Amino acid sequence: MNNKPLIIANWKMSPTTLKEAEHLFSTVEKEIKKIKEVEVVFCPPFVYLLNLVTAVSLPPRRSSQRIAFGGQDCFWEAKGAYTGEVSPSMLKNLDCQYVIIGHSERRKYFQETDEVVNKKLRAALEARLKPILCVGEEARDAFNSEGRPLSEASLVIGEQLEKDLADVSLSRIREVVIAYEPVWAIGTGNPCLPDDAMKAALFIRKTLAKLYNRLIAEKARILYGGSVTSQNAASYIKGAGMNGLLVGGASLNASEFVKIIENAVAS
Ligand code: PGA
Repeated sequence: MNNKPLIIANWKMSPTTLKEAEHLFSTVEKEIKKIKEVEVVFCPPFVYLLNLVTAVSLPPRRSSQRIAFGGQDCFWEAKGAYTGEVSPSMLKNLDCQYVIIGHSERRKYFQETDEVVNKKLRAALEARLKPILCVGEEARDAFNSEGRPLSEASLVIGEQLEKDLADVSLSRIREVVIAYEPVWAIGTGNPCLPDDAMKAALFIRKTLAKLYNRLIAEKARILYGGSVTSQNAASYIKGAGMNGLLVGGASLNASEFVKIIENAVAS
């Protein structure tokens, strides 16, 4: 397994100009050049992807292997009459390696069901993209010491995994990254306690062991997302043993995002 922390910047629907996007990206890129033990994935709005990917592939930046790109979503068909949609192969052809699937904002504002998430995830895998599957309960909840969910709300994670990963084969599941994103912690400044994130990750691994096998469960890359800041980043990587972070709001502030990466690596 790749042991380097995986730090994802989910810019969501920001910033509003290409100039700002390029500035944000190049500032972060410059600052993290010296950091080797990390993989950073930028997920900007679709309209900025081409410019940012091109900036990285121009010499002398070709060596920026630690930087990758991802879409924030994709459709499940490869091409056709689907107005407004972007296909996994389009992302792949743009040199993206990742795509976020099933983010809670997609589920909430665009009524994405687990069936839709599953279709998108399988299409992404088919196009050789690595899906970052987001799962998480709506309401603040607790896990017991064995990582078993204590109430109905936490069962959501198990159900999401089961439905979202339906028909994903043993050979493909290795490409899937899972982001534990408790909905109540996203954009609220109210992050999940590292200990609870650890229990959620344990529960996710147990579910993967049930759906696949123990090796898959052990090797899966599980990230935490929800109000991550430079103050708490290290506690999820070191304290809670997460394999990385999915960062929303704080990834729009270059110096804060750089600090998050530094702290995640130093931990
Ligand atoms: P946040 O968002 O860091 O702003 O809480 C995380 C996410 O939605 O992925």
